[in-house]
Amino acid sequence: MLPCYDCHNPHGSEGSDGVRPNAFLISDERPEWAGLTNTLTDPAQTRRFCWGCHIPSDGIPGIKQVGGIIMNAISVREPHRSSSTHGCYDCHGNDYTDPESENVHRPRARVG
Ligand code: HEC
Ligand code: HEC
Ligand code: HEC
Repeated sequence: MLPCYDCHNPHGSEGSDGVRPNAFLISDERPEWAGLTNTLTDPAQTRRFCWGCHIPSDGIPGIKQVGGIIMNAISVREPHRSSSTHGCYDCHGNDYTDPESENVHRPRARVG
């Protein structure tokens, strides 16, 4: 339900650091978003992308905003901790095979 421009820049990317462009026209808006060339299958990159907006379960609630929404820390689960290396897509999906597939555009939560 978020506008595309919260995550994508149709004019391309130079990366938030100006030297490491993102793939998939991912926006440069957030400091975590540089060198994101493989969010789909590299768990560390997926996590950096999601942490652009979401706050880890052990993070400080309210330190990020998305279009005026003040973000809370997410629920307490091992992969939701800042120290975890577990890929978010293991449970929230990176499947683009059909319009009902679960992926970042449709991030259903499943127990994994
Ligand atoms: C919450 C962030 C977010 C939003 C909002 C978002 N996208 Fe994306 N999109 C991504 C990410 C991240 C990828 C890279 C692939 C991945 O990691 O799933 C992607 C990939 C894509 C792709 C390539 C998919 C493929 O099959 O290779 C297209 C096309 C796309 N987005 C279009 C859109 C459009 C159109 C909108 C608005 C209706 C939108 N996105 C909104 C994050 C987002
Ligand atoms: C542009 C900011 C942004 C990015 C990037 C982003 N999200 Fe979100 N996401 C939101 C907002 C805003 C909400 C709704 C408010 C909330 O839940 O705090 C949300 C909600 C969700 C929900 C709950 C959906 C529901 O139906 O209740 C899940 C799950 C989720 N995001 C997972 C992810 C994952 C996984 C990633 C990385 C692949 C990601 N998000 C990246 C902004 C973002
Ligand atoms: C092992 C499976 C698993 C992994 C990996 C995982 N999650 Fe979740 N996530 C869940 C489940 C199950 C729920 C729904 C129940 C709940 O709220 O705890 C959920 C809920 C959420 C929600 C919505 C509820 C809330 O607290 O805001 C967000 C946002 C979210 N996850 C983001 C992420 C992000 C970001 C990552 C990667 C850093 C991630 N998840 C990795 C299983 C997982």
